Amino acid sequence: MKKLVFSTGAGISAESGIRTFRDSNGLWEEYPVMDVASHTGYLKNPELIHKFYNGLRKKLVDAQPNSAHYAIRDLESMFDVRVITQNVDDLHERAGVSNVLHLHGELMKVRSTKHEERVYTLTPDNLETSLDTRDEYGDPVRPHIVFFEEPVPNFSEGMKLAQQADIFVVIGTSLVVYPAASLIDCVRPGTPIFYIDPNPSNISRPNLTIIKKTASEGMKELTEILKTMQ
Ligand code: OAD
Repeated sequence: MKKLVFSTGAGISAESGIRTFRDSNGLWEEYPVMDVASHTGYLKNPELIHKFYNGLRKKLVDAQPNSAHYAIRDLESMFDVRVITQNVDDLHERAGVSNVLHLHGELMKVRSTKHEERVYTLTPDNLETSLDTRDEYGDPVRPHIVFFEEPVPNFSEGMKLAQQADIFVVIGTSLVVYPAASLIDCVRPGTPIFYIDPNPSNISRPNLTIIKKTASEGMKELTEILKTMQ
């Protein structure tokens, strides 16, 4: 089976009602990104960080995967599908996708502030955390999110996957946040690349096809193309 590697961003979850970051009405318009998504912000006001991610979690548990998430899952019958996502939501997993690599962490998880390998999954009926939340060892926890100014531990694995891709697909990302935005440059020369986004960033690469559509519409079109490329 050919290896079909997706690199997804906030746009794939937009039709599930999850706000993107940089579109008009995006999250970073309402909340200063450095307050709620940077290491400095976390050190300055961790209480705000807990509140912010509690709010995002509540929205996430009410959201459902959309047809683009399911279309990726359906391609598993034809391809060895891998998803590298910048998203912290769990909609790829809830759509049944088997292999998902999160570059920027996972909203439904928290980790110990003392032992970062101790990661815990929250449940929909117990998704709020605060400065007082303790893990089973009595240590405080923080959101399992990669804040700006922090390393991206899964990036090297993402790079490997991009290098192995026979076909590489980018969906719903403004391609401004690094290192995630550089995955497209890790593909082997000659690899077909597709980029689905209604408002794509202005990039050009050899073998790049831009599908200027929403994720759900774009995935319908791409699925037909991929059927001819198995
Ligand atoms: P952005 O908000 O920067 O970009 C969203 C992209 O989705 C834009 O290119 C939109 O045109 C596109 N889009 C909007 N609606 C869409 C739809 N229905 N279908 C497909 N595409 C659509 O989001 P990201 O590029 O994912 O990091 O942002 C990257 C990172 O910046 C995030 O992971 C987050 C943020 O700060 C952290 O929080 C660590």
